[in-house]
Amino acid sequence: MSDNQIISVKEILELEASNQKVEVKGWIRNKRGSKTTSFLSINDGSTIKTLQVIAEDQIINEATIKDITTGCCVQINGILKKSIGANQRSELFAKKIKILGLADANEYPLQPKKHSLEFLREKAHLRFRTNTFSAVFRLRHALTFAVHKFFNDKGFVNIHTPIITGADAEGAGEMFQVTNLNLEDTPIVDGKVDYTKDFFNIKTNLTVSGQLEAELGALSLGQVYTFGPTFRAENSNTSRHLSEFWMIEPEVAFADLEENMDLAEEFLKYCIQYCITNCEDDLRFLDSRLANEEKSLKKEERSEMGLLERLQFVIENDFERLTYREAIDILRNSKPNKKKKFKYIIEGFGSDLQSEHERYLVEKKFKKPLIISDYPKGVKAFYMKQNEDGETVRAMDILFPQIGEIIGGSQREEDLNKLSNRMEEMEICKEELWWYLETRKFGTCVHSGFGLGFERLIMFVTGMKNIRDVIPFPRTPQNADF
Ligand code: 4AD
Ligand code: MG
Repeated sequence: MSDNQIISVKEILELEASNQKVEVKGWIRNKRGSKTTSFLSINDGSTIKTLQVIAEDQIINEATIKDITTGCCVQINGILKKSIGANQRSELFAKKIKILGLADANEYPLQPKKHSLEFLREKAHLRFRTNTFSAVFRLRHALTFAVHKFFNDKGFVNIHTPIITGADAEGAGEMFQVTNLNLEDTPIVDGKVDYTKDFFNIKTNLTVSGQLEAELGALSLGQVYTFGPTFRAENSNTSRHLSEFWMIEPEVAFADLEENMDLAEEFLKYCIQYCITNCEDDLRFLDSRLANEEKSLKKEERSEMGLLERLQFVIENDFERLTYREAIDILRNSKPNKKKKFKYIIEGFGSDLQSEHERYLVEKKFKKPLIISDYPKGVKAFYMKQNEDGETVRAMDILFPQIGEIIGGSQREEDLNKLSNRMEEMEICKEELWWYLETRKFGTCVHSGFGLGFERLIMFVTGMKNIRDVIPFPRTPQNADF
């Protein structure tokens, strides 16, 4: 190794300390010590661990030590020695400390103590510097990588679907409009906005899903997937909804609903296993963080399993598969339904499952991930394949403990007439989606796909209970700060 090699804290902590010279740059987490010696812990984001730096007053001048406070940025040159303390393998004896960026202790909001997640949400520009958020965002990265690796290894082609689109893929009308018209002086013809004067000549919005375009890709490239931001203007201020979230949408030609479920289950297990294999330190930290957090809860509110245990459990067990009709039968006869404890009482076929019902099935009844299929057509999107019974569609939702719905998918209606009729019934504009319909006209085939809510997967893997804490800069109703 060359003299004074600049390496990350992670790499330093993996070295066998042998009095070698190293240089490290990072942020001070904590300073403590006596008159003659200061102990600094420094972190550079490469790992959850910190490097202990020993600064002796004979070597480092008093003024520098005084200026070092939590949050300041430093460059340290020193000698790496074996540690006699039990907490770390090695420590750095500082020879030279250069302060790169001061952090005024009277103003710096993060102190070496526990801050609430709500407080840290308001400091989203600095929360990366905490143990919890650095672990969460390293895991978010690991999961991104795992997603691409999973599909790449299977021969899928990643396609980038448009963010600005004229289509409403889900037909739910929950869209953010994109326009450069002057809203104070919009061109009006016959009492309606004249979109031929708008930037794209048509009314456009931010995408709610890349699925329709992914289907076009699958009907030529065979197996494709998208991984991009999606936007929904639904006014749900819950711990599981974002207005801007990331979705992974694979789409596979010739696959039916069963194969779609198999792919989804394999995919989720792969991503979780990837984190267990590659992010051990961060997961251990989050596991104990969650255990601590749950200590303050009432006994019946605590999870039965710890974080790592839960992840292992999901990998090792088959997901339970049942139809919507079976789910409804179980719910109708369940205690909370009979005792009217549910807010929405299940009467029978046709009711949509609310999150209280999903939680009952996942957390109380089966205690494992569930795949519910064959929902009534009335509660699902227009593009789903219609079953012979005329009442249900080949849809599937995957429900996870603590999270609820993590994946929604379906086999797609490949029959032009059936699709076209369903669109008319649901008042979906066929003219706007002419290109989608043409794939059913020219060389149509059985195909299926699903959408994974990326943040919901991160919530499950990290044990974070609010979706705002697994995306760096959350967008939710009334909030687009940072
Ligand atoms: O069930 P959804 O709406 O399905 C679709 O968009 C299909 N086009 C997917 C497909 O078949 N290709 O959304 C898919 C997933 C949900 O299961 C959920 O995990 C997540 O996206 N999701 C959200 N995540 C965060 N905030 C929101 N507002 C979300 N809405 C959906
Ligand atoms: Mg859904």
